[in-house]
Amino acid sequence: MQLDLQSPEFIANPYPTYARLREQAPIYPLESGAWLITRYHDVEYLLKSPLLDKDVSSIYVQLYGRDMNDEPAYRIHNNFWASMSSLGRRKLVVKALNAGRVSEVRALVQKSADQLIDKWIELGQADLMNVFAYPLPVQVICNMLNIELEQSLDFFAETKLMSRAAEPHPLNAAELNEANTGALRLEMFFREICRQRGEQLGEDLVSQLLIAEEGGERLTEDEIISNLIVLFVAGYGTTANALCNTLRLLFLYPEQRELLIAKPELLSNAVDEALRFNSSAPITFRTAMESFEFNGVQIGAGDGIFLALDSANHDQEIFVEPDRFWIERPLTVKKPLTFGLGSHYCLGAKLGTVEVEVAVETLFRRLPNLIIDNIDQLKWQPTWIFRGLESLPVRW
Ligand code: HEM
Repeated sequence: MQLDLQSPEFIANPYPTYARLREQAPIYPLESGAWLITRYHDVEYLLKSPLLDKDVSSIYVQLYGRDMNDEPAYRIHNNFWASMSSLGRRKLVVKALNAGRVSEVRALVQKSADQLIDKWIELGQADLMNVFAYPLPVQVICNMLNIELEQSLDFFAETKLMSRAAEPHPLNAAELNEANTGALRLEMFFREICRQRGEQLGEDLVSQLLIAEEGGERLTEDEIISNLIVLFVAGYGTTANALCNTLRLLFLYPEQRELLIAKPELLSNAVDEALRFNSSAPITFRTAMESFEFNGVQIGAGDGIFLALDSANHDQEIFVEPDRFWIERPLTVKKPLTFGLGSHYCLGAKLGTVEVEVAVETLFRRLPNLIIDNIDQLKWQPTWIFRGLESLPVRW
């Protein structure tokens, strides 16, 4: 089977190809030497397997042919993943994320959503991606950190620059320079915030990360800074895309939108279903730590493995009528793998879901005449690693 993962056709609608792969080549050898895994049971098994690791530093070595630790954008990613691979360190971050102000997350998101909508509600039309979906998660995280958005750094711009380092291809010199500049500005900013919070602890996430302690173990300042930066990087694009993907589906299937408006108690189901149907983080990556045989295929030590979470989410072995967008979908024994599973399960799953829920509810309530023009002509971002629209022009 020939695959072109970069083709606009595949990016616009990967699901028929994934269905064929699940049937004919569920462990598919990509040209790069990595494997693409598409069946739910296989993805689930490998997400939990101790034979695989989320070792991003080795991916960078493969991409650039050198250790990237002297480049700030990559050093920060490497520091973060290294600390997340330790169960103890990971527990500390989860503990901080669930403490203090962070538990009031829904109210925080609501406040941010309303503040943003107030700024442009009089306009009557806008690109929702730019004016709402991107700024919302950034503003929410700033609220959680108790820092003012305008405080001296354009988080949105710097994070966007730095997040390029997560793309699965090497950056050119100019892009690398921009990613590093963004990374260094964020690093300097958070170092100063850590210093200030160290002098006067509060209820915010930075303070919670500084005091989080378990069995005498604490996070170092460098780990806290990498964590804060990666929370921005991992949290804003995924959530912005999830929000626009959800809105697109609700307008593409008007009877489902009307059902949701008639039965608002279906909101959480509708968002879970939209994230199953069109996940904004459709792929995750692992490296084989040793060679092993998997369903008759020999995987080599060091091989890269792409786990297609959104293919798993459309697997008919698990989901009835998987290609139907159905907000009253009956519960299944196995859950969608939208946020991964096991030791690297998304740290922001609850936050991301709440953000999309609040955003959809608030938009439908405050802009009851919302319309997406030319919905079938919306363009997808040209990557198969993330799933998101280029823009979402709307009127109301
Ligand atoms: C709806 C929005 C989101 C989606 C669909 C999503 C999805 C995912 C997925 C699929 C993974 C990879 C899991 C794996 O490799 O096994 C992940 C990891 C992660 N996510 Fe999210 N995410 C979302 C929102 C967020 C938010 C809001 C944050 C933080 C504020 C966040 C922070 C992270 C972090 C830090 C990781 C790495 C965890 C680890 O590898 O240990 N995510 N997310």
